[in-house]
Amino acid sequence: MRLGILTGGGDCPGLNAVIRAVVKTAVFQYGFEVVGFLDGFKGTVEDMAKTLTLEDVSGILPRGGTILGTSNRDNPFKYKTPEGIKDVSDKVLENLSRHGIDFLITVGGDGTQAIAMGLARKGVKVIGVPKTIDNDLGGTDQTFGFDTARAVATEAVDRLHTTAESHHRIMVLEVMGRDAGWIALHAGLAGGADIILIPEISFTLENAAKAIEKRERMGKRFSIVVVAEGAKIEGKKVYMMKVDDPTQPMRLGGVGRVVAEGLQKLVGLEARYTILGHLQRGGSPTAFDRILATRFGYAAVEAAARGENEKLVALKGQEIKLVSLKEAVDNPRRVTPDNELVKVARAVGISFGDQ
Ligand code: F6P
Repeated sequence: MRLGILTGGGDCPGLNAVIRAVVKTAVFQYGFEVVGFLDGFKGTVEDMAKTLTLEDVSGILPRGGTILGTSNRDNPFKYKTPEGIKDVSDKVLENLSRHGIDFLITVGGDGTQAIAMGLARKGVKVIGVPKTIDNDLGGTDQTFGFDTARAVATEAVDRLHTTAESHHRIMVLEVMGRDAGWIALHAGLAGGADIILIPEISFTLENAAKAIEKRERMGKRFSIVVVAEGAKIEGKKVYMMKVDDPTQPMRLGGVGRVVAEGLQKLVGLEARYTILGHLQRGGSPTAFDRILATRFGYAAVEAAARGENEKLVALKGQEIKLVSLKEAVDNPRRVTPDNELVKVARAVGISFGDQ
C-alpha cells in the first residue's frame, strides 16, 4: 500500500511527530510506502511530492514546524490560477493516482478536513489527523499543538505578572485561538490572570474595569488580562486585520490594544499590551503533544490498513478512537458558558467581563 500525507493550514507543534509516527509505523509494521505532498494541498495540485524514508524522519520528533511545509490558502476547490479562482480538484485526483496513493492522510484543522471531505466525495480515501493550537476541531477532546500553545501562553502570563506588579500596571496579553477561547481560558487559569476575555462570552470594558477597581480596593495595584484574539465587546464585531488576498482566511487581531487603551482610560492605571502571536505556534512541542501526535500518526496508519475511510483519529477521554470527518467538521469545539473551567475561574475570582 502507498500512503500519501500532507500538512495543511497554520503550522503547529507536533506536525513532525505525526509525520515521523506515520512513516515509522507504515514501514516497520506494514512495509507500506509513504509519499509526502509539499506545502499542504498545493503539493497535490502542483504535484510536489517526495517519498519519505526512515532517514527523512530521523531526528524530527522534537522539531517545530513541518518538514513537508504547509499553506493555509491553497484549497483545490477554490484554487488561485492565472485565469482566476477555479476548482482544480480533478488535478489532485490525477496526481494521487499517478503516485499510486491508496490513502491520503490529511493532518490539519477544520479547513483541511473540510477539503479532505470534498476529496472523499470524489472517491479519494482519506484519514484525517486533528491539528491546531486553537483546539477548536470537533470530534476530538483535544488536538495536538494546543498543549504547547497553552504552555507558551502561560509562561507569558507569568512573565507579565512580575513586570505588572513592579510598575503597578494593567498588562493585557492577546493570545490566538480564532473563534474559540481555549488558549485564553487555559493560560489565564494556569497563569492566575485576573480577567479572561473570550469569544464565547461577550464583555464590556466597564465590567472589566470594575473587576480591576475591586482588586484595587483589596490593595492590588496591578492586574493581568488575557484576551483571545476573537473576543468581542458586547454589540461589536471582532477585530480584524486587513487582508487583500481573497484566498487568504480572515486574520484576527487588535483587540488587545483596544482593551488596554480602554481600561487605562476607565481605571486610570497605566496599561500595556502584548500580542503573543506566532510564538504560540513555533518551536518544540511539549511531551504531551509529542505523545498525542505519535499516537495519532500510528492510529492513522492502522485505520488505513484496516480500510477505514473518511475518518478522523480522535482523543476521547484517554483513548484514541475514530470518528467521521463530518462529525469533526460540523461540530466546532467552543467554550460553553457552563464549562467547568469557566465555573472554576469565576469561583477563584477571575472576571470574564460580562458582569
Ligand atoms: O489556527 C491557528 C492560528 O494560529 C490562529 O490561532 C490564528 O488566528 C491564525 O492561525 C493565524 O494564522 P496566520 O498568521 O498563519 O495567517
